[in-house]
Amino acid sequence: GPDIPVAEVQAHLTELSRIAGENGGNRAHGQPGYRAGLDYVRARLDEAGYTTALQEFTAAGATGYNLVADWPGGDENATVMFGGHADSVSAGPGINDNGSGSAGLLEVALTVAEQNLQPTKHLRFAWWGAEELGLVGSTHYVENLPDAELAKIAGYVNFDMIGSPNAGYFVYASGSQPPGSDQIEKVLADYFVSIGVQPETTEVGGRSDHAAFARAGIPTGGTFTGAEQAKTADQAAKWGGTAGEAFDPCYHRGCDTLDNIDATALDRNTDAIATAVWTLSA
Ligand code: PHE
Ligand code: CA
Ligand code: ZN
Ligand code: ZN
Ligand code: ZN
Repeated sequence: GPDIPVAEVQAHLTELSRIAGENGGNRAHGQPGYRAGLDYVRARLDEAGYTTALQEFTAAGATGYNLVADWPGGDENATVMFGGHADSVSAGPGINDNGSGSAGLLEVALTVAEQNLQPTKHLRFAWWGAEELGLVGSTHYVENLPDAELAKIAGYVNFDMIGSPNAGYFVYASGSQPPGSDQIEKVLADYFVSIGVQPETTEVGGRSDHAAFARAGIPTGGTFTGAEQAKTADQAAKWGGTAGEAFDPCYHRGCDTLDNIDATALDRNTDAIATAVWTLSA
């Protein structure tokens, strides 16, 4: 996959930060900042030639939205999906959680278009709503997809928090509950090893939007730079950063702003998204 310039990803984060600031300080489900952020992502994809659709659902008495973007071409009977949640908590703008995954996915999708990638498989990107209310958007998508459509999904790869300020380099463990894919775990782990980073696997379990896909029997995986857990001394020795401090001390707090991003982690993980997209769609 191509080397994505991190400045392009940071530019999307700057826009998401501005959008939150102009809409009450967050991008939470049911709040105006959520739709404004999603509309920004959708407009960039539409300009680039994607076929986009909004899927509506209801959660906690408010309308939620998933954004689904298809890159025309490829074998739709073998569709590979890449996604992450687009909503923040209401405490703040959610720049690491999950502006980071949202922006990384967007820039990789735009690079697919710029390079006019023509993969063998069909490519679909998704930005989920209401993850923070309990994986509502992604679960709604999977549960409302007819069995015949579900059978066409060859894999789903999730990106939720990929720029943590005291970053770890985690790949979702395939031997998790619900189980993930050995192949996807290996593609992601091999990428980190190839750039000289030693990843660890982590049991993400039901904590993000891959879960509904995994429960439906679809091969899943993802990357993660850590949330409220503290970095160990061994992890600080191999990855840098501060032992005994959380990977993201601003997790679910108002201080999850543009300052709450490690640009190196964001860069490496966005390049991991690109590698996964290019490799798994080939
Ligand atoms: N899904 C969690 C959140 O949005 C964060 C998380 C991501 C936790 C990946 C574990 C693994 O708050
Ligand atoms: Ca890069
Ligand atoms: Zn770009
Ligand atoms: Zn969260
Ligand atoms: Zn999250």
